Amino acid sequence: MNSTLVSECLQVNAAGHLTIGGCDTVELARKYGTPLYVMDESSIRTALRDYKRSIDENYENGGMVAYASKACCFQELYRIVMQEGCGADVVSGGELYTAMRVGFPAERLYFHGNNKSEAELRMALEYGVGRIVVDNLTELAQLSKISQEMGKTAAIFLRITPGIDAHTHSFVRTGQIDSKFGITLENGDAMKAVRRALETPGVELKGLHCHIGSQIFDEEPFIHAAETMLNFMTQIRDETGIVLTQLNLGGGFGIRYTEDDHPKAYGEYMKLVSGALHKRAKALHMPVPYLIIEPGRSVVASAGITLYTVGAVKDIPGIRTYVSIDGGMPDNPRYALYQAAYTAVVANKAAQPADRIYTISGRCCESGDLIQEHTPLQECEHGDILAVLATGAYNYSMSSNYNRLPRPAIVMVRDGQARIVVKAETYEDLNRNDL
Ligand code: LLP
Repeated sequence: MNSTLVSECLQVNAAGHLTIGGCDTVELARKYGTPLYVMDESSIRTALRDYKRSIDENYENGGMVAYASKACCFQELYRIVMQEGCGADVVSGGELYTAMRVGFPAERLYFHGNNKSEAELRMALEYGVGRIVVDNLTELAQLSKISQEMGKTAAIFLRITPGIDAHTHSFVRTGQIDSKFGITLENGDAMKAVRRALETPGVELKGLHCHIGSQIFDEEPFIHAAETMLNFMTQIRDETGIVLTQLNLGGGFGIRYTEDDHPKAYGEYMKLVSGALHKRAKALHMPVPYLIIEPGRSVVASAGITLYTVGAVKDIPGIRTYVSIDGGMPDNPRYALYQAAYTAVVANKAAQPADRIYTISGRCCESGDLIQEHTPLQECEHGDILAVLATGAYNYSMSSNYNRLPRPAIVMVRDGQARIVVKAETYEDLNRNDL
C-alpha cells in the first residue's frame, strides 16, 4: 500500500490517477458527476470477514459481528452485511426499516438508542428484533407494557456505563460516568436495574451491553471494559443466582485517516480482549460469554472516498489558500463538528508530489464549512478532481441538505466495476414533502 493513500483499496494508475477498487476515480467523476461518494465493496467484505475470523479463531464460545449501521446505512450495505453472515446494530426505526426492506434476518439485529419511541419499540417487537438494548428504567417499563399488550416477550440486554474513560474526542466518548447513555455501574444503579429487569414481566434479560467510545486505538480500554463487565456478570450471579451468558462490547476500533494513525489489525484487538476474557472467566468460575461486537467505522470508513470538483482557488498572501469544492459540510460535517483529520489527494494528479498547502472549503454559506485546513496537496486548479479519503463512515449517514443541496449518489466499486447503489437526490426529492 502507498502509505500516503491511507487505505488498501486506493492506488495510482499509469495515467497518474487515483484508483479505488480498480476503478479510475477521474473516470468515475466524469461518468457519475461530483460530489460523489464511492465505496469499495471488497474492503467492506474483508473487514467483516476479518472480524468474524478473529472471533472464530480466538474465542471459544462463539459470537457475532453486528455491524453498527449508524456509520453508514443503505440497502445494499445491509445486503452485503447479511451475505457475510453478520448481524447489525440499529438505532432507529429508519435503520430498522431499511434493514427489513432487504430481508435482513431480524434475529441478528440489536436495537439501540437512549430514547426509543413507543412506535419504534412496537416496530422492533413486530419484526422480531433479536435483542432490544434497554438504555434506562423508563424504557424498561415502557417496553414491558408494550410487549405484554402485544402478547410477546422482549429479549433484552441492559446497556451499562462501565465508567471507562477512553481517550478520544469528547463527543464520541460514551463509557465514562458522565454520559447520557446507559445505566451507571459505579453507584449501584446497574445492579438495581438488573434486579428490576429480572422481575419485570414481558422482558427476558439475556445479557449486557457496553460501548466505550469511537476511534480508539489503544487496546487497554477495551480490555478494561470486558473485564469490568465480566466482573459485574459475576456479581449478578453471586447476588441473584442468574448467570448471564451474552456480552456485547460495542464498537469503537480506530481507523487510519492520516499517516499519523496506526490502528492495530482488528484481529489483534480481538485476540487481546478474548485472552483477557478467557483468563478472567476462568478465575471467576464463569462461563466465557457469547461475545457480540459492533464495529461501524472500521468496517466502512477506509472503504470510502468522496470525489469533488475544484472550483475557485483563492490565495490570500501571507494568510492561506482556499480551494473551493462542490460539496462540503452537508456531505461531510466531521471537520466542522470534530475538527476531524482527513487526507486529501488531487485525483487527476495523484502521482505528483503533494507539496502545496491548502485549506479545503465547501460551497455552503458558512465560514466553518471546511473539510480540512492547512493540508498538503498537489497543486490545485479549477476543474481538478479532489478526493477526500476514508470518508466511508459517518459522512453519508450524517449528511444533510443544508443550503438545499441534494445528497450525492453512492457508487459501489468492485474489481474494476462500478454501480450506483444510492441515487443522487434531485431537486424534486428536496421538494417531495413540501406542501
Ligand atoms: N455501538 C454503539 C452502541 C455505538 O454507539 C456506536 C457508535 C458503535 C457501536 C459503533 O462505533 P464505531 O465502531 O463506529 O466507532 N459520529 C461520530 C461517531 C459517533 C459514534 C456513535 N456510536 C463520528 O463521526 O466520529
